[in-house]
Amino acid sequence: MKLQEILQKNIKRVLLTEDEIQRRVKELADEISRDYSQAEKILMIGILKGAFIFLADLSRQINIPHSVDFMAISSYGKGATSTGAVRFVLDLREPIENQQVVIVEDIIDTGATLKYLYKILQSRQPASLRTCVLLKKQRQQLDVPIDYLGFEIPNVWVVGYGLDYADTFRTLPYIAELKQEIYQGT
Ligand code: PRP
Repeated sequence: MKLQEILQKNIKRVLLTEDEIQRRVKELADEISRDYSQAEKILMIGILKGAFIFLADLSRQINIPHSVDFMAISSYGKGATSTGAVRFVLDLREPIENQQVVIVEDIIDTGATLKYLYKILQSRQPASLRTCVLLKKQRQQLDVPIDYLGFEIPNVWVVGYGLDYADTFRTLPYIAELKQEIYQGT
């Protein structure tokens, strides 16, 4: 099937255009650059797979010294069946003790992933720990601090700009809502 046909079959509507996302990413990068202007260096930690595009764009707009690293966590059962349980898949290459750390996530749904990661990273004694999240769903979530937030979105399944459904749609330049019948029952 051609990409256009796949999109027509699966996508309900575009929630955030490429322009809207890029504008907001630049604003977040400016805010982070300002807040850490006195820091010698910061470490941006992207949570795979979802955050890979957001981190790539955000880090290229940040105009203070920084490095990037990655972690991967997998949630058991998403959507309506989500249990909130998470599994550690990939760890950082270096210790983060005494570093200024910013966790970069694509989306907060239940909050389980970020809460789990925040606790793990906090226990490694960074000099500071903040979170930067592109999307936050409007639903009940676990209590976890969000220092930099891109957008609040409705409680629907979104794809694109790193976010997937069954590992597809991640490379769309915009963020779109999936048709409900596609993800119902998952
Ligand atoms: C997604 C997303 C977040 C998490 C948010 O990851 O990237 O990490 O779910 O959900 P939560 O707030 O309910 O924990 P997913 O487990 O789908 O893996 P992926 O990033 O590899 O797509």
